[in-house]
Amino acid sequence: MSENLPDDVFTLDALRDFTPVGVQLGVVGWPVRHSISPPMHRAALKVLSTASPRFSDWRYDAFELQPEDLAEGVELFRKKGFRGINLTVPHKVEVLPLLDEIDPVAAKMGAVNTLFFKGSRLEGYNTDGYGLENAVKEAFGQGLTGRDIVILGAGGASRAAVAQCIHSSAKSILVANRTLDKAQAIIDSQADELGRGSAISMEEVPAAAAPGSLIINATSLGLSQNDPSPISVDELPEGCLLYDMIYNPARTPFLEAGLLRGYPIANGLGMLVHQGVRSLEIWTDEKVSAQAMRIACEQALAAR
Ligand code: ATR
Repeated sequence: MSENLPDDVFTLDALRDFTPVGVQLGVVGWPVRHSISPPMHRAALKVLSTASPRFSDWRYDAFELQPEDLAEGVELFRKKGFRGINLTVPHKVEVLPLLDEIDPVAAKMGAVNTLFFKGSRLEGYNTDGYGLENAVKEAFGQGLTGRDIVILGAGGASRAAVAQCIHSSAKSILVANRTLDKAQAIIDSQADELGRGSAISMEEVPAAAAPGSLIINATSLGLSQNDPSPISVDELPEGCLLYDMIYNPARTPFLEAGLLRGYPIANGLGMLVHQGVRSLEIWTDEKVSAQAMRIACEQALAAR
């Protein structure tokens, strides 16, 4: 399989032989070859290096590691002096036992997407919630605070969204899922801090959603070409805002239906960009350009 990898995607074998030439960052996933994080971060690093030469030797690459190789991979990153790593599917939860320290927000989410090697210590952060908050603010002019929010799905993405909604003091939170038990498990796991929250079925969403709700698709429905919308958008109350965590395709059936009904919509590109901004800010301790990252993402997606 490795012979088909793009030049800047490294396998475990290649990582064993890898020698960083400067300050090294990267993304780890399985698979990771379709990730647009490398061009996104390189664009932001280019902007940073224009302002300060200290960033001129910073690099960002992709590493494709199977779940069973994550521990060895993390040890190699540590030994080789990497500064930071983004984690994507399926590593965000599996990495938890390998950390020396976890940020409280990431602990609530039960998942980590950003590793920061501080000397020999490994810290874990989760910037997905920050990405969601800022993407919603950018798209709809107001973040999660004070909003009635319906989250569709009950996987890892949903769990992180619920934790962020609590952190940002949402007015109410409903978690809807095909498998009700999983939605209930998310509600139960955050029950201490969740004031008004409950688990419902997808069919109940239109009747249960308050007018003006922010509806967030955190399911994987929409990634594949023939997927339907997870809910019946036509029956939603007035004034809803539709956010889809999926960015490729740019318009899922969920967003398409929302657009037809005249609801404001936004896809997950903003979330990808803003989680990336926050990760790079953690590693560099500098303000990072969201605009440069967004343009790089759009170019990478257009080139597909
Ligand atoms: P992630 O970590 O990205 O959140 P996940 O844990 O695999 O991914 O979760 C996928 C979510 O999409 C789940 O909520 C799943 O519903 P179930 O818990 O009922 O499986 C939802 N999902 C996936 N395919 C679906 C489908 N065909 N219809 C409805 N929901 C679906």
